[in-house]
Amino acid sequence: MDKIDVKSLRNRAEKDLKKAGNLKELDLIFKNYLGKKGEITSILRSLKKLSENKRKKTGKQTNELKSYLEEEINKKKLLFAKDIEKREEWLDITAPGEKHYIGHLHPLTLVRRKIEEIFQAMGFSVVTGPEIENEWYNFDALNIPKDHPARDMWDTFYLKNGKLLRTHTSPVQIRYMEKNKPPFRIIVPGRIFRHEATDASHETNFYQVEGLMVGKDISAANFKAVIQEFLSRFFNKKIKTRLRPSFFPFTEPSFEVDMTCLVCDGKGCSTCSQTGWIELMGAGMVHPNVLKAGGIDSKNWQGFAFGIGMDRLAMMKYKINDIRLFYSGDLRFLRQF
Ligand code: DAH
Repeated sequence: MDKIDVKSLRNRAEKDLKKAGNLKELDLIFKNYLGKKGEITSILRSLKKLSENKRKKTGKQTNELKSYLEEEINKKKLLFAKDIEKREEWLDITAPGEKHYIGHLHPLTLVRRKIEEIFQAMGFSVVTGPEIENEWYNFDALNIPKDHPARDMWDTFYLKNGKLLRTHTSPVQIRYMEKNKPPFRIIVPGRIFRHEATDASHETNFYQVEGLMVGKDISAANFKAVIQEFLSRFFNKKIKTRLRPSFFPFTEPSFEVDMTCLVCDGKGCSTCSQTGWIELMGAGMVHPNVLKAGGIDSKNWQGFAFGIGMDRLAMMKYKINDIRLFYSGDLRFLRQF
């Protein structure tokens, strides 16, 4: 056996101990020095081979080193354990986790779905049509001839190919009549476009829900009943409305439907231009020329039509005073729904 140098062994052990930063490293030190094949264990085992003098001296030194190491390792272990306890205090495993934000439906989608649900329950089918239209469907077929001043009612985006972005959902009335025989009742939710300046109640891109009900004896009274029923289901309460005579080329007679402004409860605010009323939709009895353009015999069939401003409806439901918020993409706004 090599010369036994307990002193340098002790130095090494002390250095190792100092370096040890966690329980695993401590365990390794224990194994290397005090384990079955550890250095100290081996020395103690080989003592018997030494002369009596040396055995006494080395034995004493080694045993001292052994108890010293055991003690130090235990001390350090306790320290590490305390550290872990401290960390566990800091890491409160009962605290609620951080919420991950998951997406949800846009307020206008929520409103559209609700509208569809209510009208479907009243026997209406949901129909759609193209956003890029031609003049025939958007104007002519709706009894708005080329040079008629009524075309100015809709500020139109014209496309280079002669087509246009539909200014209302009314063209789908014609498209539907061409392919379907009365009686029928449909609604047409969809996006529309207007070339106009934007402000709190005007956008260049917004949504309408067109309605069309054609039968043998459909009257304005039916319209009033349907719309009242719709509004009270949509807002979950009775809603005050008023009908004003109006003009649309595709209806005769025509009217506009207002509802009490829900942002201010009819008191008058910026959303309703201080009137207490919100213009919600245009409506009327379908003009015979429109029925004809759709291929329907206007002597046998009649009906009502309406066009609801979907954004207005959403603004009333959620008490929003600026239509532009819907299209702002501002998450602070959107996350409230
Ligand atoms: N299309 C009209 C607009 O955009 C709204 C409208 C009015 C639709 C009367 C109709 C209606 O179906 O009968 O201003």
